[in-house]
Amino acid sequence: MLSEKMQQLINDQYHRELFSANQYLAMSSYFLQEDLDGFANFFRVQAEEELMHAMKQFDYLHEVDGKIEHGPIDSPSNTFGSLLEVFEEAYKHEQLITKHIHEIVKVAMQEGDFATHQFFQWFVMEQVEEESTMRTLIAKIKLIDGNKSALYLMNEELMKRKAEAEENAA
Ligand code: FEO
Repeated sequence: MLSEKMQQLINDQYHRELFSANQYLAMSSYFLQEDLDGFANFFRVQAEEELMHAMKQFDYLHEVDGKIEHGPIDSPSNTFGSLLEVFEEAYKHEQLITKHIHEIVKVAMQEGDFATHQFFQWFVMEQVEEESTMRTLIAKIKLIDGNKSALYLMNEELMKRKAEAEENAA
């Protein structure tokens, strides 16, 4: 049985994952408007992953007899100054998500909630991967430094990213 505190923490995190999906869709829209379909694809797939994170937490909460109080999702940013700015914002956001995931794991440890502790280990490692992906892409964008041919190639590369479910089915 979950503590009230843990139920609230997971509820908040579930809403944060939905916010993340919405934020990444806003970034995908931005890139479609900028005619960078590969970058748009990257954030569309990222949004799908965030929805998958939310659904994992949704299922877990019900499995342990908890419940979700469905509430409003914060508004995402819709205007961006540059390609680099989008990725820096995404990186900053992932760092914030990592902080919240770690807080959940810390409280689970303090409460002796072994199931929640175990369940969120997957998210701990997922955050390592997500932060690393954003950092790598930021480094590449800085390397490109506005070079149009290199930007074209990076856009083509990001076009190849597929959602996990699609990849598993292939
Ligand atoms: Fe659900 Fe990008 O962390």
